[in-house]
Amino acid sequence: MTLHEMPTAMTPWSKEVATELVRDHAAEPGPLLPVLHALHEAFGYIDPEAIELVAQELNISRADVYGVVTFYADFRRTPPGRVRIQVCRGEACQAVGGRGLVEHATRSLGLELGTTAPDGSVSLEEVFCLGNCALGPSVTVSGHLRGRVEPADFDRLVSDAVASGGGER
Ligand code: FES
Repeated sequence: MTLHEMPTAMTPWSKEVATELVRDHAAEPGPLLPVLHALHEAFGYIDPEAIELVAQELNISRADVYGVVTFYADFRRTPPGRVRIQVCRGEACQAVGGRGLVEHATRSLGLELGTTAPDGSVSLEEVFCLGNCALGPSVTVSGHLRGRVEPADFDRLVSDAVASGGGER
């Protein structure tokens, strides 16, 4: 397996922080997507309050903002779990066991793709390439990229991350 560090910091939702982020990008041409990406990157999801905020700041309708947020599956609309798991469903990973790994992940966690456990401990997301195609099947656990993940590896990575409160040992 490989390990590659990726940024993981998530800020709890804050209207003040969100307003600053929106204003940072408001002058860009076609600012809506850059604004939404900045909010998503900071908070890990688009809070319902952000719809109104972005609409006001960019002087567009809430329906326009909502339409874009719901159009792109990459925008979460609920907070991610403390342990955030991404399983790659890209073709290269599918060819080397990714399909079975996705089935295992949903069964093992009791979660559908794109959902968060009711206690907020874990969320399971699908992605379509993690840039680690030669070492699939690939997953990230709390932002750490792992390759050649077998079902038993997956269970261990997740239980270690949950036991460490959201990080990874
Ligand atoms: S297809 Fe899975 S990492 Fe590229």
